[in-house]
Amino acid sequence: MPPGRIAILGATSTVGRAIAAEYARGGRDLLLCGRSLGEVERVAQDLSLRYGVAAEACLLDPDLPDYPQVLWRLEGGRPLGGVVWAIGTMSAAAGGGGPDEIRETTWVNFGAAVAAIEGVLPAVDPKGFIVLLSSVAGERGRRKNYVYGAAKAALTTYGQGLNHRLAGRGPRVTVVQLGVVDSQMTWGMSGGPAGADPERVARAIVQAVRAGKGRVHVPAVWGPIMLLLRLVPESVFNRLQV
Ligand SMILES: NC(=O)c1ccc[n+]([C@@H]2O[C@H](COP(=O)([O-])OP(=O)(O)OC[C@H]3O[C@@H](n4cnc5c(N)ncnc54)[C@H](OP(=O)(O)O)[C@@H]3O)[C@@H](O)[C@H]2O)c1
Repeated sequence: MPPGRIAILGATSTVGRAIAAEYARGGRDLLLCGRSLGEVERVAQDLSLRYGVAAEACLLDPDLPDYPQVLWRLEGGRPLGGVVWAIGTMSAAAGGGGPDEIRETTWVNFGAAVAAIEGVLPAVDPKGFIVLLSSVAGERGRRKNYVYGAAKAALTTYGQGLNHRLAGRGPRVTVVQLGVVDSQMTWGMSGGPAGADPERVARAIVQAVRAGKGRVHVPAVWGPIMLLLRLVPESVFNRLQV
């Protein structure tokens, strides 16, 4: 893997922070970005102290007018070793809520990711990597979260297309189809499967990147689960409480 810093877009996210820690444990310097600069600075300080790496905090807010130009001004010609997209939000309302909430869900989970990745692409080492945290929610629409799921399905398709475009001449793209993970996002949720441990999830993601995988289910058990779920006929699926 090339030597540049690893940028985590959404460094305050539970999973993003665990991935940052995993790279820091391996001695990689970090560029940590998020909308709450104070919180991102605390994460940077913590990882820097814990693992003895350099970690810089940077403001990245999809709601600001200069988003995401800040990213490609940062490296000053030194390519990034990799970029991880970990920002995401899930609305509580099944149909996505009102227009503002729907706009936020689709922008934050999809449009903002595309704008950031397309913007930062020239700053990524061609031998480096891009990770997109997508979701199993994008593999089959379910009544509980189909607006979020639709945005994640779009993110997955974007990642596949980008991988195709860059194949053999640019950074490798890994789309992660995450199952349920214990995090701020899933805190207090009931009735679903138990959430996976973020540190284990982060290790699996870093391994998948190292192995050059284009698409991976994490935890792996979600691969066969989603295969089965996609095959269930609609008449049966509509009666399932999933
Ligand atoms: N946890 C799961 O079960 C699960 C499953 C499938 C996919 N995923 C995906 O994995 C990624 C990480 O999830 P997580 O569980 O670690 O989530 P999390 O702990 O809730 O973190 C969400 C991240 O997104 C940022 N964010 C949320 N809304 C934002 C907005 N409107 N503008 C800018 N930033 C915003 C948060 O920033 P602040 O800290 O500033 O709020 C935080 O950095 C997300 O893309 C999520 O969709 C998670």
